[in-house]
Amino acid sequence: MGKMAAAIGSIATLAAEPGEDAFRKLFRFYRQCRPGSTDLGGVIDFSAVPPACGTEPAAHKVIRSQLSVSSVSEHDAHRAGLQPVSKWRAYGLEGYPGFIFIPNPFLPGYQWHWVKQCLKLYCQKPNICNLDKHMTKEETHNLWEQSKEFLRSKDVNKRRPRSLLEKLRWVTLGYHYNWDSKQYSADHYTPFPSDLAFLSEQVAAACGFQGFRAEAGILNYYRLDSTLGIHVDRSELDHSKPLLSFSFGQSAIFLLGGLKRDEAPTAMFMHSGDIMVMSGFSRLLNHAVPRVLPSPESASLPHCLETLLPAQLPSDTVVEPCSEEDLQVCTAYLRTARVNMTVRQVLAPDQDFPPESAGEHKRDIATQGSCHPDDNSDQVKRARLDPHS
Ligand code: OGA
Ligand code: MN
Repeated sequence: MGKMAAAIGSIATLAAEPGEDAFRKLFRFYRQCRPGSTDLGGVIDFSAVPPACGTEPAAHKVIRSQLSVSSVSEHDAHRAGLQPVSKWRAYGLEGYPGFIFIPNPFLPGYQWHWVKQCLKLYCQKPNICNLDKHMTKEETHNLWEQSKEFLRSKDVNKRRPRSLLEKLRWVTLGYHYNWDSKQYSADHYTPFPSDLAFLSEQVAAACGFQGFRAEAGILNYYRLDSTLGIHVDRSELDHSKPLLSFSFGQSAIFLLGGLKRDEAPTAMFMHSGDIMVMSGFSRLLNHAVPRVLPSPESASLPHCLETLLPAQLPSDTVVEPCSEEDLQVCTAYLRTARVNMTVRQVLAPDQDFPPESAGEHKRDIATQGSCHPDDNSDQVKRARLDPHS
């Protein structure tokens, strides 16, 4: 490797900005990295962990994590589009108790259901999305219909205006997260999608959290240049419940840091179908997504998405058939995009929202980052201050 190439690929050579902490420095490093010329050997790839991990030189202290196989019947797993839990692999990281990483446990083809729901259904009313700020209900009502011809057209005219789907950044479900107040509230709730609630309950149960209730969701839609700034998800009132994260489409780098914002994070890949669970000690850790990785062959799909959803589905599954047209639109979209669904339980079983306290509320605004992907990677900071851009 020549001197220049080595310089491009090294974290040490990235000059720190004045007052910059270890997390921020690594965030910038991965944001600007070029797969191919940057050495990403330090990024954990849970999909590539050999079955007998632990006997390997433990560079990253990846450990096996136990699942509760008997908590989810094979039938219910199948209904949610998942392999039997006995076939899942689950990993943890030394130093991060409560963090569980499950490399793609979906049945072949079943990820398409969840992708289609994110692009076609969940972004519709009564759910809330970033486009609501600038558009009427009628305009946002049919993002899918408005965008599908654009996306399906073979003419790859890069200079055409972006379709509405390509401008979609986030959707909130259930108790709608308020990006300004950083709070959920009792009177800002719409029914949580029952299929996603079912999927979440199965995954939570497999991780030892029986009785998990999917009460709020944030869906993040990433283009190849989107990032998600450093933040902690602390707005939920019951932190004893896990936070679930589902990734689809292009791979990304995830940074998992410490309780304090400046602690150096651990970097890992998130691939299509991967599920992450943040619970216990790891529930309130700082984290970020500095980089979505373009597919190695330009604008191609990950291999696990090459399988179609079976035409014949079990009668009581929550997964719905995917038409040829649905698949074409989802495929075109995901060639240059990533979708992430996070699901949260907000309240403990008998808990109510407390009466508003103005003082606490203000302090929260000053100390928390927002959590939705920003389109322009140079403007992570601004986006944290102005999440509706
Ligand atoms: C979030 C979050 C991670 C991701 O929405 O709070 O951390 O991969 N998402 O999008
Ligand atoms: Mn988060």
